[in-house]
Amino acid sequence: MVSGSTAIVTGGGRGIGRAICCELAAEGADVVIADIDEDEMAETAALVEEEGVRGYPIHTDLRSFEDVEATVDEALAEFGTIEILVNNAGIAGPTAACEAVEPDEWDQTMAVNLRGPFYMCRQVLPSMKEQSYGRIVNIASVTGKRPLTQRTPYATTKMGLIGFTRTLAAEVGEDDINVNAVCPGSVDGPRIQRVFEEKANASGRTYEAVRSEAEAESPRRELVQREDIAQTVAFLCSSDADRITGQDVNVSAGKVMY
Ligand SMILES: NC(=O)c1ccc[n+]([C@@H]2O[C@H](COP(=O)([O-])OP(=O)(O)OC[C@H]3O[C@@H](n4cnc5c(N)ncnc54)[C@H](O)[C@@H]3O)[C@@H](O)[C@H]2O)c1
Repeated sequence: MVSGSTAIVTGGGRGIGRAICCELAAEGADVVIADIDEDEMAETAALVEEEGVRGYPIHTDLRSFEDVEATVDEALAEFGTIEILVNNAGIAGPTAACEAVEPDEWDQTMAVNLRGPFYMCRQVLPSMKEQSYGRIVNIASVTGKRPLTQRTPYATTKMGLIGFTRTLAAEVGEDDINVNAVCPGSVDGPRIQRVFEEKANASGRTYEAVRSEAEAESPRRELVQREDIAQTVAFLCSSDADRITGQDVNVSAGKVMY
């Protein structure tokens, strides 16, 4: 159930996370936005409040356990309960051959994309267990399912996040806590445009060539819109999805079919 719930959305400041915040708000949830970018969080909070619910930004660096602990404590103090957690924040990590990836780049990608969702779940689960209800959605990627060359750190985190999703779902199902992953294909917007630019630079091709190659990977010959992801997240948090858990749902315009 989304209406009347409180949701925490990490990385809700912009992009897919902002679309998720707005969709959950439109369906009647108060939304805690956990991000590092104050200005973008404030913009998302204003959009959320236009839906007649509360938008509550909390500065949270997912790399810091203390930050995550404080964010969840503050959200619980302010709203009383947390029904929905969306682990959306993620970074692209470096685009480079494995042997050219700096150890710190590897660690940073792990810290945001994989350790962050663990920290968030660790802190939110006790209250979800106490209330015997929770809906957790992890934003993975189709890169969690198949290799993506030059992106070993990112692919490893997204594959790990799907493993985390399945394992946690198996652990907490009896408490009416569902844990699912959504796996976007290439989502149109500034982030994927940066990725295409980096890939073009790394491979000596043009931006247009890299983009049309990505579009051609979909049977529909198109990228995905961020609203497609947001609507899937809202569905997984709704009572229509009560018996869906441990799944990794592709929203990729058919780019990946397994
Ligand atoms: N855009 C795509 O094509 C695409 C495809 C597949 C999967 N994804 C996944 O979707 C998610 C969102 O992607 P996006 O394209 O909207 O990205 P984005 O870069 O536009 O937004 C990411 C958000 O996360 C926040 N963030 C970054 N580091 C953080 C940290 N340490 N602590 C807290 N917040 C932090 C940023 O401030 C930003 O608001 C990511 O997990 C990404 O891997 C995106």
